Amino acid sequence: SETFVTFRMRLESLLLLLCLSHTAAAGGEAVQVDEQLTVQPDVWAEVRALRHLVVDQRAELNRSKVAFSAALTDSGLLGPFNTDTTIVYSNVFTNIGKAYNPITGIFTAPVKGVYYFRFTGMDYRSAVHMGAALYKNNQRIMLTYEINVNNGYFEHMSNGVTLELEKGDVVFLRLPANKGLYDNNESHNTFSGFLLFTL
Ligand SMILES: *[C@@H]1O[C@H](CO)[C@@H](O)[C@H](O)[C@H]1NC(C)=O
Ligand SMILES: *[C@@H]1O[C@H](CO)[C@@H](O)[C@H](O)[C@H]1NC(C)=O
Repeated sequence: SETFVTFRMRLESLLLLLCLSHTAAAGGEAVQVDEQLTVQPDVWAEVRALRHLVVDQRAELNRSKVAFSAALTDSGLLGPFNTDTTIVYSNVFTNIGKAYNPITGIFTAPVKGVYYFRFTGMDYRSAVHMGAALYKNNQRIMLTYEINVNNGYFEHMSNGVTLELEKGDVVFLRLPANKGLYDNNESHNTFSGFLLFTL
């Protein structure tokens, strides 16, 4: 990242500065190292600046640990309902950074960046078509559905997308009106996402 390049440049100039100080000390006056540093106030300014950079970078690294994966439910049928309904994937496998809320089903971007999301869906009913729509805020990004012609057989669908998100943008899935899903303890319906890199 940019910060890292700045960090490297500063570290290199600091090392050069220390090196020159050392050479000066070795080459002539027999000065103590701390005296040498006292007459080189730039060294301390650089050390302080580097310290700040390290602290900032640690915070940035912490913010960029974002990954979640959750399954729908162990307890069977979801839908059909007569309106679009947010799908709540409540069986959490992973939720690093806690950006996914398993009570609401909503992912909130903690940092501006590029994220990848994917989901799978399953149903066995031919009387009800399965479907899921992925949203970024109020914008529907994709609608995926599947018509099961073999009643009683498990049929699956899946989709995935890479999205550029601002901090605070939300991503979630909705079950479209009159569509259905089925899940059990085999976790046929999952929603996963992770941060690829910050911007
Ligand atoms: C980063 O996370 C670690 C471990 O969770 C924590 O100990 C540390 O204080 C955090 N640092 C910052 C700068 O937030
Ligand atoms: C999954 O559910 C089935 C049917 O209710 C049950 O027989 C089985 O023991 C469960 N398996 C696990 C790993 O919980």
